[in-house]
Amino acid sequence: MRPIIGFGAGGHGRVLLETILLQGEFDVVGFVDDNQDLHGRCVEGVRVLGGRTILPELLGRGVRHVFLGVGAIGDNHPRAQIFDHLCDIGFQVVNVIHPTAVVSKSAVLGKGVAIMAGVLLNCGVHVGNNVILNTGAAIDHDCRLEDHVHIAPGVVLSGGVRVGMYRHVGTGANVRQNVSIGSEAVIGVGAAVITDVQDRSTVGGVPARVLGRGI
Ligand SMILES: CC(C)(COP(=O)(O)OP(=O)(O)OC[C@H]1O[C@@H](n2cnc3c(N)ncnc32)[C@H](O)[C@@H]1OP(=O)(O)O)[C@@H](O)C(=O)NCCC(=O)NCCS
Repeated sequence: MRPIIGFGAGGHGRVLLETILLQGEFDVVGFVDDNQDLHGRCVEGVRVLGGRTILPELLGRGVRHVFLGVGAIGDNHPRAQIFDHLCDIGFQVVNVIHPTAVVSKSAVLGKGVAIMAGVLLNCGVHVGNNVILNTGAAIDHDCRLEDHVHIAPGVVLSGGVRVGMYRHVGTGANVRQNVSIGSEAVIGVGAAVITDVQDRSTVGGVPARVLGRGI
């Protein structure tokens, strides 16, 4: 099995670790995490080797693959910066797909995509780089998700929905078919989105209304 590390040993990283072990393709040789308190400790039986400064050394030892375990609730820029850094220095950020997820053969996936347990990805869906499709999300036909989007647990996107870069779609939100959701900021937990959402606007409620500008 090929060696792999996880970047980020928090909650999201632990969920991805379990999933990558289920995939059975990789030998997880450690976590990397910038939180010094974790260095030398074991998380779910996997040692935290150090912070990002040890990445070149790991590359030198032949570790080429990484899963990105840094989550986000709202602002996806920090995990986007880490994704770009990992790619720039030569790591391959792998897709992590839970065996219970249903992924259409015609779906197109970017790099570093995390597809959690129970996700449904229907035909013709396009998923950009470094997108999280969290537990039980349903993404219907022909949706298009740009880079660094986080779709939280239990979200339902009807057919043909577009979601712009860095956007967070909150837990349990439902989105009407063909709606276009601009980049950045948040769709609130439980929202019913029935009209287009502007860039950098936070919306919530049923039906969804603007709650504020920016995160
Ligand atoms: C929308 C959201 C970002 C707002 O968070 P916030 O800026 O901290 O806002 P507050 O909790 O201070 O609430 C501000 C106002 O918005 C309202 N509000 C907050 N969240 C709301 C939601 N989801 N739907 C409707 N109204 C909401 C509050 O009732 C409050 O109204 P008021 O000013 O009339 O009292 C947040 O509630 C949310 O839904 N985040 C997504 C979380 C998520 O998806 N987590 C999954 C992680 S995997």
